[in-house]
Amino acid sequence: MRFLRSPSIGVWFSDANYSSLCPSMKVGLRCFVTTCRAVVLPHFGGPEVLELRPNVNIPDLKPNEVLVRARAVSINPLDTRMRSGYGRSIFEPLLPLILGRDISGEVAAVGASVRTLNVGQEVFGALHPTAIRGTYADYAILSEDELAPKPVSITHVEASAIPFAALTAWRALKSTARIADGQRVLVVGGGGAVGFAAIQLAVAAGCHVTATCGSQSIDKILAAGAEQAVDYIVEDIELAIKGKFDAVLDTIGVPETERVGINFLNRGGHYMTLQGEAASLADRYGLGVGLPIATAILLKKQFQYRYSHGIEYWWTYMRADSEGLDEVRRLSEAGKLKIPVEKTFPIAQVREAHEAKDKKQIPGKVVLELD
Ligand SMILES: NC(=O)c1ccc[n+]([C@@H]2O[C@H](COP(=O)([O-])OP(=O)(O)OC[C@H]3O[C@@H](n4cnc5c(N)ncnc54)[C@H](OP(=O)(O)O)[C@@H]3O)[C@@H](O)[C@H]2O)c1
Repeated sequence: MRFLRSPSIGVWFSDANYSSLCPSMKVGLRCFVTTCRAVVLPHFGGPEVLELRPNVNIPDLKPNEVLVRARAVSINPLDTRMRSGYGRSIFEPLLPLILGRDISGEVAAVGASVRTLNVGQEVFGALHPTAIRGTYADYAILSEDELAPKPVSITHVEASAIPFAALTAWRALKSTARIADGQRVLVVGGGGAVGFAAIQLAVAAGCHVTATCGSQSIDKILAAGAEQAVDYIVEDIELAIKGKFDAVLDTIGVPETERVGINFLNRGGHYMTLQGEAASLADRYGLGVGLPIATAILLKKQFQYRYSHGIEYWWTYMRADSEGLDEVRRLSEAGKLKIPVEKTFPIAQVREAHEAKDKKQIPGKVVLELD
């Protein structure tokens, strides 16, 4: 008989005890932890609507799911936007929900079919954009393919800043544009988390990288291996950047950056914006009308740019990708993929943290710590 240590309550249980108490899991702390603290969003609004509740139910694990004891969860722009009502056409009927995509922590229990992760293991990962039970909680539930072993060389706080941003960049550059050694990549908005992850992924793939950013990010971007960093406030991007690119990742996605990005592409190149209009059109017109309008707009642009510029136009979205997360973990472990954390808050100060992001008082990543 093996003995397994519960990482959170420091008690040893035998395999037999676990499985007889909780047959749906190979091992399970779930049998003993049925509720936990979580930051609940009861309705849309400002930071003041966020409620740290003490006894939020932890649902049963499905066979492919993992219960993670959270140590750190990072704040993404999606969290503050969701809190304010972005995606209401999807999320409103599902309120109250729990915000948060990124997590770093320890495996507390695994579903019956989980093969690659074990109780007590340190992991990091990210939920997909439409998950309704997010990670701002003592215990979060992610599927096995949304998690990977945490890089041992970095802390939980550092690890929690990486997965959602890096997987968004991975989806665009690797899955969509299929960047390859020797290609030229332009990242619009290289100072942000997704842009900075994209620069590092492209450099690791052997690409020549140019990025636009604010003046405070130039040194960081050049140190990460970009060949050129252009200050979008003081420089004329169209004059400063020379030559054409095989892929443009536009994290800003306003009409001006879209125009510039498209004009910088070689024929056959890929323009990818993170600001796809599906959610905002669905919010404005309802899912039934908004999504067909979004599809029509996307198809029109794809057709138009293929005809006028010979390029591929995409709205790209973060998606769980176990191969991508594994590569992200490998690069992070090797010190080749970092997302600097600007400030941490205890989870009890989640309102203050959201307010600071809303008011743009903290330019970089903010992480919430769970004790
Ligand atoms: N589609 C998806 O699935 C998906 C996934 C993740 C994120 N997103 C979206 O992508 C955007 C970026 O996310 P993030 O996590 O990287 O946010 P972030 O870390 O807050 O970064 C935003 C950065 O944008 C830069 N910026 C603003 N205006 C710019 C301009 N005109 N040119 C160049 N840079 C500019 C600023 O950089 P400086 O400090 O250098 O000025 C800022 O740091 C957000 O709007 C987010 O909602 C979408």
